[in-house]
This record gives sequence, structure tokens and C-alpha cells, in this order.
Amino acid sequence: MRRAIYPGSFDPVTNGHLDIIERGCKLFDEIIIAILINPEKRPFFTIEERREILKEVLQEINRSTCGLRVDDFEGLLVHYAVAQEADAIVRGIRAISDYEYELQMALMNRRLEPTIETVFMMPAEKYSYVSSRLVKEVFQLGGELNGLVPSLVEERMKQKMASG
Ligand SMILES: Nc1ncnc2c1ncn2[C@@H]1O[C@H](COP(=O)(O)OP(=O)(O)OP(=O)(O)O)[C@@H](O)[C@H]1O
Ligand SMILES: [Mg+2]
Repeated sequence: MRRAIYPGSFDPVTNGHLDIIERGCKLFDEIIIAILINPEKRPFFTIEERREILKEVLQEINRSTCGLRVDDFEGLLVHYAVAQEADAIVRGIRAISDYEYELQMALMNRRLEPTIETVFMMPAEKYSYVSSRLVKEVFQLGGELNGLVPSLVEERMKQKMASG
């Protein structure tokens, strides 16, 4: 039984995230999609909203060949990973710009917890420029999100915007 943690903000979940989850499923029996609670960031969606959206989106696609769980955590990722009895941390690499930061984090995490491996995965090229930050920017400027996020995510963003 191989278990991985896929940590991130998922504010909101994008098709790039889903691509990584699908690929990760080929390597692991279970992936816990773990939303990092970061009090310093001003998010678009609350943790509860992100949890709910992720669950719905994952149910909708429902083509995964592994077990998927949605959770959230605070504090050190490696502490959370050990508590969940995970073998690995999955991260996505889009470009060289991701690599530098990700390598630093992976090596620090290894130092803190040598039993947990970090696995880097590359998305399909069509998602290699998709980030939550850019999705929010495009959305706030009135651009189409078709193909970048699941339609449910775009709907929720519109609802949230409309409700102030
Ligand atoms: N399009 C994508 N392709 C591959 N990996 C991705 C993609 N988007 C995010 N990831 C990876 O998913 C993990 C979690 O990312 P995170 O939730 O921070 O998303 P993000 O899109 O980078 O958000 P933000 O723009 O707020 O930083 C990270 O390892 C990140 O590199
Ligand atoms: Mg990021």
C-alpha cells in the first residue's frame, strides 16, 4: 500500500492539478490532496470551500485508478505526512522556475524527515502555464477559463464574485 500526499493551496483547483493527480495515481494506491492552511495568504476561497470544491470535482471526474482523499493541514508538511503514514510527497513541476523552489523544499523536507521521498511530476504541456494565481487574475479581468479549470470551479468563482 503506497500512499502519497499532494499538498498545495488549490485556490482554486485547476486542470493542471487534476493532471498531476491522475498521473500520481499510476504510482500510488492512495493520494491525499492536502490543502495547506496558510493564515498569511488572503485566499479567494476559504479552506472549507476549497475542500468541498475539490471533493465535488474529484467525484465528477471519477476516472482515477487510486484512492483519493481531501484533507487540510497546518504546520510542517513532513509532520503531517508522517502522521498520515505517507511514503511520499507529490509535487508538480511546470517550468524551470518551479524547479528551484521545489528542489529547495524537497531537500529541506528530506533533512527534516529522511523517510519521506518527494516525487516530481510533469503535467501535459497544455497545462504547463496554468497556475491558480493566473487563473484568478484572468477571471477577475473577465477572461474565459474554459479548459483551464473544471466548469464547476468557474461556476463557483462566478457565484462567489456575485455574492461579494
Ligand atoms: N499546471 C500545473 N502543472 C503541474 N503542476 C502544477 C500545476 N499547477 C500547480 N502545480 C503544482 O501543484 C502543487 C500545488 O500547487 P499550488 O496549489 O500552489 O498551485 P499553484 O497553481 O502553484 O498556485 P499559486 O498560483 O497560488 O501558487 C505544486 O507542486 C505546483 O507546482
Ligand atoms: Mg504555486
